[in-house]
Amino acid sequence: MSKVVLAFSGGLDTTVCVPLLKEEYGYNEVVAVTVDVGQPKTGLKEAEKTAKKLGVEYHQVNAKKEFVEDYIKPLIKANGDYEGYLLGHAIARPLIAEKIYEVAKKEKADALAHGCTGKGNDQFRFEATFKHLTQEMDIIAPIRDMNLTREEEIDYARKNDIPITTEGKEEWSIDENLWSRSIEGGKLENPSFEPPEEVFEWTNSPKKTPDEPSKIKIRFEEGEPVCLNNKELDLIEIIKKLNQKAGKHGVGRVDMIEDRILGLKARENYEHPAATVLQEAHKDLENLTLTRNQLNFKSNIENEWSDLVYKGLVVDPLFEDLNSFINSSQKNVNGEVKLKLHKGSIKVISRKSENAIYNQNLVSFDEKKLDQKHAKGAIKFHGIQSRNLKNKKGD
Ligand code: ARG
Repeated sequence: MSKVVLAFSGGLDTTVCVPLLKEEYGYNEVVAVTVDVGQPKTGLKEAEKTAKKLGVEYHQVNAKKEFVEDYIKPLIKANGDYEGYLLGHAIARPLIAEKIYEVAKKEKADALAHGCTGKGNDQFRFEATFKHLTQEMDIIAPIRDMNLTREEEIDYARKNDIPITTEGKEEWSIDENLWSRSIEGGKLENPSFEPPEEVFEWTNSPKKTPDEPSKIKIRFEEGEPVCLNNKELDLIEIIKKLNQKAGKHGVGRVDMIEDRILGLKARENYEHPAATVLQEAHKDLENLTLTRNQLNFKSNIENEWSDLVYKGLVVDPLFEDLNSFINSSQKNVNGEVKLKLHKGSIKVISRKSENAIYNQNLVSFDEKKLDQKHAKGAIKFHGIQSRNLKNKKGD
């Protein structure tokens, strides 16, 4: 008897993997596992239904709490961003891989499988975590290793009576979790093709957004969002509510060219209303409460952090090191930020903090406390090196 545990989303790739693992790889038993990282309930139900139709043992693992506590909170504090991509999918992969492995261990499985293709990033992310956790189990990636195209997969599914969702939907490759929704593939692979409205589900088109703007207020404590509009809420609730509120105003749509790990440039579409709002608000509060030196240094740390997450290398000890710095930098990131949402745009309109470095008494044009004349002395030295070079003398 040989058993394989498959990371199963219920989409085309992972659905086709089930019969392939039996027929092409000879596994007697396939266990399909969906990890719940906050994807919409309908998707989870669909996945369960599909697994039932495929006649395999099926598990759903609720990892929402861990996702938010161990991954999304650090992501918010790190202002996680890779080339403009807010890392919603990359950040979930190590946790999904870990949960798949846990089931496999319990089931005494011989192998782990995923449905990633050989062109994307997820194969790197899943396998880095799998290999970190086990050297004994085999790792199988049927779509990649059989070099299948989406069309071939659809063909195979039709011929073998494999349940796949409606044709239209299969044109796009969708990935969703609490933080973000991504849409890629099909006609979108042509970077000059404008995304049709039908690909978006979390955000309204600017045409359908309300004419009146909405204002929202977020309170952060040590860099973590804790209140929405004066109401103390769990971060999970804050994200859900913001996805609705900001999605209604069309906030958080991104259409971009992204450099994948392999070096391939890819065209990606994302929707992540809550992520956009929280990142804008958090960055603004940091500008108010961190020193210039902290901000400069932190932006380098943020780039390193985002790069590791993009590559799925959160097992690298550097990741912990970076998180230690980031956590320490957040001690004073306490306060409130107000934002205005309107017709796809988002603007911070006010901020305040008990730890603000901003000092109105000093900076105000109307205050005399700080004697302006003193600036004159400092200016004598400003730019002195280039002047020295040009004039070859010190005055
Ligand atoms: N480009 C993103 C990443 O590498 C998103 C991939 C999501 N996958 C999908 N099938 N839509 O993290």
